[in-house]
Amino acid sequence: MFGWRKKAIATPGVDIHSHLIPAIDDGIRTLDKSIEVIRKFSEIGFKKVVTTPHIHPNYPNTNDDILRGLEVVRKKLIAENLDFEIEAAAEYFVDDVLMQKIKNGDEVLSFGSNYVLVESAFLNKPFFFEMCLFELQSKGYRPVLAHPERYRFLEGELDWLLQLKEMGVLFQVTISSFVGFYGKMPQKIAKALYERKMIDFLGSDLHSYEQIRFLEEGLRNPLVDKLCKAPILKNKTLL
Ligand SMILES: [Fe+2]
Repeated sequence: MFGWRKKAIATPGVDIHSHLIPAIDDGIRTLDKSIEVIRKFSEIGFKKVVTTPHIHPNYPNTNDDILRGLEVVRKKLIAENLDFEIEAAAEYFVDDVLMQKIKNGDEVLSFGSNYVLVESAFLNKPFFFEMCLFELQSKGYRPVLAHPERYRFLEGELDWLLQLKEMGVLFQVTISSFVGFYGKMPQKIAKALYERKMIDFLGSDLHSYEQIRFLEEGLRNPLVDKLCKAPILKNKTLL
């Protein structure tokens, strides 16, 4: 007869922002927890994860640190018989170190069609932010701004984000922002970006197992649900 089956929730298919490689940034601390979180992503309905450890003054990871960590996670997934696709890129903090790397022609960790996830400082935007993104573009990369809704220097205004859009910068909004996980202002900006059709990617920005419930709550938000079901997001192009 009628079972009390839990209603399936829509997902963007591929998550493009998380911190799942154990103990290399402020994300997941242990390999076992990483596997638990990945199992949960799979149960929720995600098909793939591109995890993005910080490359940041506080977490100066190298490409090798990240790729070695990825291999450890992949081996453990096989050992656990968990058939789930995981790749790695990075969340680059825009600073003079990144600027120099790009100028030197060093390899920048990207995903999909040369997408590179970047973030700004939250309180003050570095004056060369746009210049750094322009340098990335000139090397053939496509910058994706992580959580545009969370930068405090915006003070609720979209002007800077509109300028970045004109430059061709793509936006990754964090799913739990829609349900106020980061407060009222990010929630308001996330909705405004939705209304203006300025969201290119959704991401979890998951740092801990405990945040999964906010991710699930976010996925149940009607706007997120609509985004996941409409052919707008670029997440699914990564499958
Ligand atoms: Fe992040």
